[in-house]
Amino acid sequence: MPFIEWDEKYSVNVKEIDDQHKSLFQIINDLNDAVSAGKAQDVIEATVSKMIDYAKVHFATEEKYLTKFRYHEYAEHKKEHDNFNIKVLAMHERLKSGVYILSSEISRFIKDWLTNHILVIDKKYGPFLNDNGII
Ligand SMILES: [Fe+2]
Ligand SMILES: [Fe+2]
Repeated sequence: MPFIEWDEKYSVNVKEIDDQHKSLFQIINDLNDAVSAGKAQDVIEATVSKMIDYAKVHFATEEKYLTKFRYHEYAEHKKEHDNFNIKVLAMHERLKSGVYILSSEISRFIKDWLTNHILVIDKKYGPFLNDNGII
């Protein structure tokens, strides 16, 4: 069973964004697989890098739509994304510099953050974007 599995409850009802969330789930599963299989540190670091890079692409997509239509909770939403970036970048730095950090701690953190963010924060803009013709 995958570490994190897509479910309709995560849908924000916008295809492009659901597809990006699915890709993020896939990278989290890849990371968890690498950690569980005891893969080399550089493989784990590279997967975390991939996750950080793709999260940036994804956040930029959401922020583009939310600013375009002047979403009323944009500032709070952007802050959540920024906080995630700061935390994950710090974890990645610690991992790279050899400071002790469990790789499983990173995959767990990303999984928990992302599922919670989608269900609580992202889902709120679904109807708003739909009303603006984004489906
Ligand atoms: Fe999202
Ligand atoms: Fe978001």
